[in-house]
Amino acid sequence: MSFRLVVLVSGSGTNLQALLDATASGDFGVVAVGADRHGIEGLTRAGRVGVPTFVEQVSDHANRDEWDESLAVQIAAHKPDLVVSAGFMKILGPRVLAAFPVVNTHPALLPAFPGAHAVRDALAYGVRLTGCTVHLVDTGVDTGPVIAQEAVAVREGDDEETLHERIKTVERRLLVEVVGRMARDGWTVTGRTVRIGRTGEPRDASRTGREESFQQCQEPGGTTK
Ligand code: GRF
Repeated sequence: MSFRLVVLVSGSGTNLQALLDATASGDFGVVAVGADRHGIEGLTRAGRVGVPTFVEQVSDHANRDEWDESLAVQIAAHKPDLVVSAGFMKILGPRVLAAFPVVNTHPALLPAFPGAHAVRDALAYGVRLTGCTVHLVDTGVDTGPVIAQEAVAVREGDDEETLHERIKTVERRLLVEVVGRMARDGWTVTGRTVRIGRTGEPRDASRTGREESFQQCQEPGGTTK
């Protein structure tokens, strides 16, 4: 298996599907899909292609801390290089975030319109331009360092559904692109700046494998993934 992804979902899972479809590129593989609820289309999509699934519901635990701990254990069992939150509608806890790098896709141009109703909020505000953001997850709500963004124009007569569908078309492509680049080239984080690839060198010049690419991406004051 190449670069290993665990993808977390809560709903229809079209972003997950885009990642599953892109595994043919050979840059990464989806080794498991986790959910916070049963019976969702995202889990069916994983099952269809034989990818293992797990469900951790908050309501099955005494509190969020225990849920966080169980989720971290479930994810760890699949030894991911990266966790992708793709329409996962829960705030991840400190154990998961300490154990794995996590990226999230969000249907707005952060820092505008964080939270669960980004598309509705953007429409209500009356913006003419919105879009999507792929970012690293930290302990806040959609506050982690931005990796990539793309704009989507709001059209006359758009409602939440039509606008969200147009954003998701862009979002799926952007997510696959970003995850592919992270898998191929590694990344560094310095403050709020995420750089994909080895700094100071041509992107593919000395790539001999994922391990090396990650280990040598250290920058002063930054963290290496
Ligand atoms: C995406 O727009 C994602 O950014 C948001 O929920 C949507 C999930 O869509 N958090 P899907 O389940 O991948 O189809």
